[in-house]
Amino acid sequence: MGFFADRYCFLVLKVIMSHIVWHHATVTRLRREQLNGHRAVNLWFTGLSGSGKSTLAHAVEERLHSMGCRTFVFDGDNVRHGLCSDLGFSIEDRSENIRRIAEMVKLFLEAGVIALTAFISPLEKDRQRVKSIIGGENMLEIHCDCPLEICEQRDVKGLYKKARAGLIKNYTGISSPYEAPANPDLCLETGIESLADSVQKVVQLLFARSIVGGVKI
Ligand code: ADX
Repeated sequence: MGFFADRYCFLVLKVIMSHIVWHHATVTRLRREQLNGHRAVNLWFTGLSGSGKSTLAHAVEERLHSMGCRTFVFDGDNVRHGLCSDLGFSIEDRSENIRRIAEMVKLFLEAGVIALTAFISPLEKDRQRVKSIIGGENMLEIHCDCPLEICEQRDVKGLYKKARAGLIKNYTGISSPYEAPANPDLCLETGIESLADSVQKVVQLLFARSIVGGVKI
C-alpha cells in the first residue's frame, strides 16, 4: 500500500478507536446558502510564485464582497505563518500543507462561504486530493498561467534571485517541479491580461455555474 493509503487507514482506525463521532449541525450548509443567496464553493487558484494568484484572489473577493457574498481568502504566505508554520517546501511538506488547507476549506464550505485559495499547489496528485476531500463539485480550479520568465522578472519578494543563487532550495520552477493542471475550469494568462479582465472571467464563471446571481438554492 502507498504512503497515503497507509496514513488514511491509520487515521480511520485512530478515529474509530478514540470513539469520536461527527456531530451534525442543525443549521445546515443549505440553510446558510439560502440565507446568503449564493452557493458555497472553493475557487482554487494554482500557479507559480509571482503568477498573480493572491492578487487575483483578493480582487475577486473585493468584487464578490461588493455583491453581498460571504467570502474568505486563504493565502500561501499567510497560512504558513500559523496553521502550517511547521512545514517547509519538500514535496511531502507541500502535500501536507495542501491537505490541511483542503480540510479547512471543507469546513468553510459547510459554513456557506465562497473560499478562495491561493497556493502554488504544484502537483496534480495534491490538487486531485483536494477534490477528493472537498468534492469535485465544490471546487473550481483556476490556473494562473504566467510564464516562469515573467514571474522571475517580477520577483516581488526577491526569492527567485535567491533561488537562482542557490540560497533557497526546492524553489518551484527553479529546483522543484510545477505541474500545470491538465483540465482546469479556467485558465488565465496572468502574465499578459489585465487584472480587471481576469476578475471579470472568474466572476462570469461563477454566474455561468449558477453559484451567484440570484440563483434558486
Ligand atoms: S505550496 O507549494 O505548498 O502550495 P505555498 O503556496 O504554500 O506553496 O507557498 C508559496 C510561497 O512561499 C511563495 O509565494 C513564496 O513566497 C514562498 N516560498 C518560500 N520558499 C519557497 C520555495 N522553496 N518554493 C516556493 N515558494 C517558496
